[in-house]
Amino acid sequence: MCDPQSILHDRVREALVVAFGAEMADADPMVRPSDRADFQANVALGLSKRLKRPPRQIAEALVSSLRVEDVCERVEVSGPGFINLTLKNSFLGECSSQQLRDPRLLVSLSSQPETVVIDYSAPNVAKEMHVGHLRSTILGDALARILSSLGHHVIRQNHLGDWGTPFGMLIEHLVDLGEQRASEELGVGDLNKFYREARAKFEQDPSFADRSRLRVVQLQAGDEPTRVLWQRLVHESKRYFGEIYAQLDVSLTDEDVCGESFYNPMLADVAEELEQRGLATVDDGALCIFVPGFSSREGSALPLIVRKTDGGYGYAATDLAAVRHRVKTLGATRLLYVVGAPQRQHLSMVFSAATMAGWLCPPARAEHVEFGSVLGADGKMFKTRAGDTIKLSDLIQEGVERALAEVTLRFPELDDETRRRVARQVGVGALKYADLSNDRVKDYVFDFDRMLKFEGNTGGYIQYAHARCRSILRHARLRPEPGPIEIVHPAERTLALVSLRLGAVIHQVAETLQPHTLCSYLFELAGALSGFWHDCPVLKADSELVRDSRLRLVELTSRILDHGLGLLGIQAPERM
Ligand code: ARG
Repeated sequence: MCDPQSILHDRVREALVVAFGAEMADADPMVRPSDRADFQANVALGLSKRLKRPPRQIAEALVSSLRVEDVCERVEVSGPGFINLTLKNSFLGECSSQQLRDPRLLVSLSSQPETVVIDYSAPNVAKEMHVGHLRSTILGDALARILSSLGHHVIRQNHLGDWGTPFGMLIEHLVDLGEQRASEELGVGDLNKFYREARAKFEQDPSFADRSRLRVVQLQAGDEPTRVLWQRLVHESKRYFGEIYAQLDVSLTDEDVCGESFYNPMLADVAEELEQRGLATVDDGALCIFVPGFSSREGSALPLIVRKTDGGYGYAATDLAAVRHRVKTLGATRLLYVVGAPQRQHLSMVFSAATMAGWLCPPARAEHVEFGSVLGADGKMFKTRAGDTIKLSDLIQEGVERALAEVTLRFPELDDETRRRVARQVGVGALKYADLSNDRVKDYVFDFDRMLKFEGNTGGYIQYAHARCRSILRHARLRPEPGPIEIVHPAERTLALVSLRLGAVIHQVAETLQPHTLCSYLFELAGALSGFWHDCPVLKADSELVRDSRLRLVELTSRILDHGLGLLGIQAPERM
């Protein structure tokens, strides 16, 4: 592998051992990209205490043992003891050529591949998906793509809300409407209307409420006609969600649906196991786990309710069963929950309880991949003017329409079909990129105008950078033969150096689960590319040799942009 940062890392470590002995083999050389040189090794500063010497002296001793003549042009000690490392152009060119030849673009596979369950999207049957589900869907899908690309076995789990007491009233409402009309309402995605109507009848009509309660009992008892009606509801909602996923280019399929109902047959057993281990106790008729460290606002111990007083199982029981299933049956060692921040307490209680029960133990661990809210321009929760949930399909449609106007304006030469295709890719890309490029734990303001710009850190800007590369490569006609990339100009250096960081960035995101790091990286790469366009003529280069080398650099960059966008679940149009 020709990754300059890891080569320098190894060389500095060797020098540490030569200069200060074998016990230094565990020290982190701290080689980082730098503004002063290509890289900086900062290890000397931290070793001062351990070696009882001033850091600058340590740095100088290190440099005299450092063997980097083949890769570095310059090595200097600066400031209190930083070691500045500048690569040789020839070495950098060799690394870039290797990256171009490598189908993986020098992104190594994970050295410890594992089975990762990602719980994401998880909308509720017969209810409109809200922007929280949109975030979960987009973030979860990007993480699924990123982790699989590193060789992890990713199991997508769409924890659909398809079970529970509301289904009594929903089924009764379905019966009242008749299956045909109900299907129509649910099919066009008027989920909220359906839900609201059912709710209103439940509150106003006592006989409807009684029927609904009876239905819940029948559903839980496995009554066949009831199950068929319930299936109908689930089926119609799944179809509707599937359409949204398709519009959004999200990789979830029906096979990934593993809704709350799936765990229903396991709940009694889960409760029994918890009781037997003495973890759950009956309190006020309900079976509860008191997880140490959790208390209510008033200071009393806060229970995680496994079984309610009426004998029914709830959300928490299902999540406990899911942890057990994911670890024991699916064999996952990493459990990710892409769920909004308001469920932080619920999930941490579930994780603690599952740990106490012995279902979640090393190497298996669970992480709440939490995210902030989407806000409107007024800084409040993003809702319609009337205060309703925003329909995702309307949002997607508006994004695509606005993108079409923008694309038409900017790229009038595109034929109609291409224009429409590109508009879809840009519109959906803008929505996704806006979500992914923000620090996931923070709230962000939803702003169509900003996200659809072709400047700044937006999806369109990155897509355009890619399309411009493709256009030059098309114009060059002669596809460059596999050959060397020669790095001479500073703008070429910058572009090559940023390109070579791809692997480190992807591995970092797999660790921190912060896709915005990848967005910032692509933005930086697109910036380096624009500096390159400015300073380095490609088709009009001075010689054929330079032209071909630059074309290869352009091809490398376009592949990285395409790959990076792909990992975010965003398409990279060939032309725009
Ligand atoms: N259906 C839930 C909601 O809409 C989200 C489920 C999240 N996943 C989980 N395992 N609890 O809020």
